[in-house]
Amino acid sequence: MNAAVAYVTYADPEGLDDEKETALAAWAQAGIAGTAVRWDDPAVDWAAFDLVVVRSAWDYVGRRAEFLAWARRVEAVTRLANPAAVLERNTDKTYLRDLTAPTIPTFWVAPGESPDLPVLGEYVVKPAISAGARDTVRTTDRDKAAAHAARLADAGRTAMVQPYLDMVEAEGETSLLYFGGRFSHAVRRNPMLAGGGAAPDADNARAELRIPDPDQVALAERVLAEAAGSPGVLYARVDLVRLPGGEPALIELELAEPYLFLRYAPGAAGDLARAVAGML
Ligand SMILES: Nc1ncnc2c1ncn2[C@@H]1O[C@H](COP(=O)(O)OP(=O)(O)O)[C@@H](O)[C@H]1O
Ligand SMILES: [Mg+2]
Repeated sequence: MNAAVAYVTYADPEGLDDEKETALAAWAQAGIAGTAVRWDDPAVDWAAFDLVVVRSAWDYVGRRAEFLAWARRVEAVTRLANPAAVLERNTDKTYLRDLTAPTIPTFWVAPGESPDLPVLGEYVVKPAISAGARDTVRTTDRDKAAAHAARLADAGRTAMVQPYLDMVEAEGETSLLYFGGRFSHAVRRNPMLAGGGAAPDADNARAELRIPDPDQVALAERVLAEAAGSPGVLYARVDLVRLPGGEPALIELELAEPYLFLRYAPGAAGDLARAVAGML
């Protein structure tokens, strides 16, 4: 009997998940009966699946508690990838504080705090819980940066203040995809804050296949060993940039619902299908 696997998506009114069919076709080829289901559809019987794979649950940002409660409920009746504890930890960028691997230097503003920002040439201010660069501001004006950080903190959110790394415009951000702990492919992504503000959710469409540099592979594997070593981790996306000195640094480790750039590399969807099959 073919294993039944849920491909977890969201209402997706704009059709932003354009890799769902690619993934499901590769799963079918691997003998996996995949079904796309919305995480918040109350009619779904999660216990009927051998494995539930969180994919494009992209509306969790404003509903994180509800999303995490859903993940724990599913995990109580079947296998969930990535595991609920991984989803919980990874959807709040404060995990970056605990890594020994190099990350972007960050000034953290706790909820309710009024920030006294360091002097930086250009600022990026973003919430610790976000996706698709939502509520993210880029500015050279320290007062504006402080005001945005204060706005986030007043709303009970943790804010992150970073130097704007302009190399994201030259070399771009590099995302390395790992399925079942093995490297699949990497892409170069275009800057999301090039125009000052974010172009929400537009980054998926602006990428190209890239062979990662050896120092990027080394850092990605160090990050994975440190933070994604559990065998229950089906997919990981390691997003890297370069600091002004040229050394690679982690911008974020995506273990919750990363876009996987499956259509950018010929073997990518097959790599994912094999990793899914390996979990069954
Ligand atoms: N410090 C920074 N310097 C330059 N660009 C940044 C910086 N931080 C974020 N960005 C841009 O904003 C995008 C979104 O930020 P990120 O930290 O990845 O959060 P998320 O993807 O969860 O919204 C990045 O892909 C990058 O293009
Ligand atoms: Mg990102």
